[in-house]
Amino acid sequence: MAPVLTIDGPSGAGKGTIALKVAQALGWNLLDSGAVYRAVAASAFDHQIGPEDVDGLLLLCRDIDLSFKLKPEGVDVLLNGESADARIRREEVAVMSSRIASLPPVRSALLTLQRSFRRPPGLVADGRDMGTVVFPDADCKIFLTASVEERARRRFEQLKQSGKDVIFDRLFQDLQERDRRDRERAVSPTVAAQDAVEIDSTTLTIDEVVAIIMNSAAARLS
Ligand code: DC
Repeated sequence: MAPVLTIDGPSGAGKGTIALKVAQALGWNLLDSGAVYRAVAASAFDHQIGPEDVDGLLLLCRDIDLSFKLKPEGVDVLLNGESADARIRREEVAVMSSRIASLPPVRSALLTLQRSFRRPPGLVADGRDMGTVVFPDADCKIFLTASVEERARRRFEQLKQSGKDVIFDRLFQDLQERDRRDRERAVSPTVAAQDAVEIDSTTLTIDEVVAIIMNSAAARLS
């Protein structure tokens, strides 16, 4: 089986950017598992299926066609072969994906799809339950955190740079609320796997975090 490196952690810890850099450095495939839940949510909007219609959602999960194209400047999320990044990053899709992600039958239905990304030469998978549920036998597991203040500050800067009008206190409270929901949910809560290396990125740069992960990977994959 192809090797897997998992990166789990709360919202805004930098998992996406770091997973992409690690995948590029290793020359491996990438799975952004948040994009899987977001793709189902976007498709549910198109088909006017609500979070209470579990059977309808399960049909969507069966048909989801998702891939990630790595480019030097970032990753392109392809849904049914078409670029879907803008669509799946919409706020209403984020809210719907969080509701969908709390449904155990939906989570089970998406396991096979997520595991199908494990192909040679290897996979970097980021999310909440990559090292605990989806790839419990992963070769290298990382749990990436940062203080809630720092995560809110990073998101604030990101949104401001893209021209959005944002209020810091609101962002901070939303993030705290999401953390609590993710940590306390009954299925696949955001917790570190027992054998994960925990990295607190509060005072580290992206490149410093990538270097720590590459060192861990080198030690565990040799
Ligand atoms: O990381 P993100 O914001 O793109 O994730 C979208 C939603 O999916 C978010 O509510 C958390 C959820 N999610 C999950 O429950 N399990 C994962 N492995 C990845 C994301």
